Amino acid sequence: MTGRPEPVVRVVLDPERAAGSLVADVRRGLGSAPRTLPPKWLYDDRGSELFDQITRLPEYYPTEAERRLLVEHAAAIARVSGATTVVELGSGTSDKTRTLLDAFTAAGSLRRFVPVDVSEATLRSAALMLAQRYPELAVEPLVGDFTLHLGHLPTGDRKLVAFLGGTIGNFYVEERAAFLGALADSLDPGDALLLGTDVVKDADRLVAAYHDSAGVTAEFILNSLTVLNRELGADFDLDAFVYVPFWDPAMERIDMRLRAETPQRVTLPGADLVVDIAAGEEIRVEISTKFRPENLRDELAAAGFSADPAHQWTDGDFALTLAHRLP
Ligand code: AVJ
Repeated sequence: MTGRPEPVVRVVLDPERAAGSLVADVRRGLGSAPRTLPPKWLYDDRGSELFDQITRLPEYYPTEAERRLLVEHAAAIARVSGATTVVELGSGTSDKTRTLLDAFTAAGSLRRFVPVDVSEATLRSAALMLAQRYPELAVEPLVGDFTLHLGHLPTGDRKLVAFLGGTIGNFYVEERAAFLGALADSLDPGDALLLGTDVVKDADRLVAAYHDSAGVTAEFILNSLTVLNRELGADFDLDAFVYVPFWDPAMERIDMRLRAETPQRVTLPGADLVVDIAAGEEIRVEISTKFRPENLRDELAAAGFSADPAHQWTDGDFALTLAHRLP
């Protein structure tokens, strides 16, 4: 046992409002063409577990590629950012974060770590583990949604905000610009952003990473319907839908959809909604945008961040970009 008290978890996510936003998302998304569901509802307990399995699939290269880049460049990231507080958005189990925290604690400058996640249970156990592993570090977890709660990030200290795993690729172009702008607004000049992004590559490898032979990704995407059945009392028949991922070369993103094989009438009492889905019709559940490192620097600049090419690291498959909030 350790003498450290348990980390105090700050909760800014209001479960009532989260439920309301599911209803709003579903009404908007299932009513548009093509029908969509926002990806954040994929990550209930089962979904988080399935995503964890995805990261260990032989076809899913991003997790290991990013981990190797972090191991290799963590010392430089710590030095260049000079941060005393590290914030991680969508930290999950804070698995890869340890690589980063090890380098920061070796550099001797880090005082505080703020993991931000929507899952309180995941955050609690990760925070407990981190507090024990880094006895000198103040671990201050924040239960929140990084699309809504950037205003609750700590201020004052020199910060590094880490947004890893390629999760920024889940946003649509406009959402991404809005998110980066809001993030820039919530930071002080000189604060840093560490962004992990998947890189545009051969379509076959990309599709394989999202259409694994074990069928785990299909189960992960189908789980979104299970979430709606549970949360909204819906009656989606999971056997009636097939997973159809494809590479969209114009948008440079993987598009993950569920296709109804036969006509489906779905009732969603919790959203006061009935939808008629035609045979062959598709619901887009997630996109995963891939980036060209040089274009990403331009996007960051447009949002108020400077990204020096010398602070962008890639193995050709995945990229880490360290950017600074401009004055
Ligand atoms: C966690 C959003 C980065 O887009 O690669 C993996 C999610 N979906 N396989 C990704 C995901 C299907 C993943 N991110």
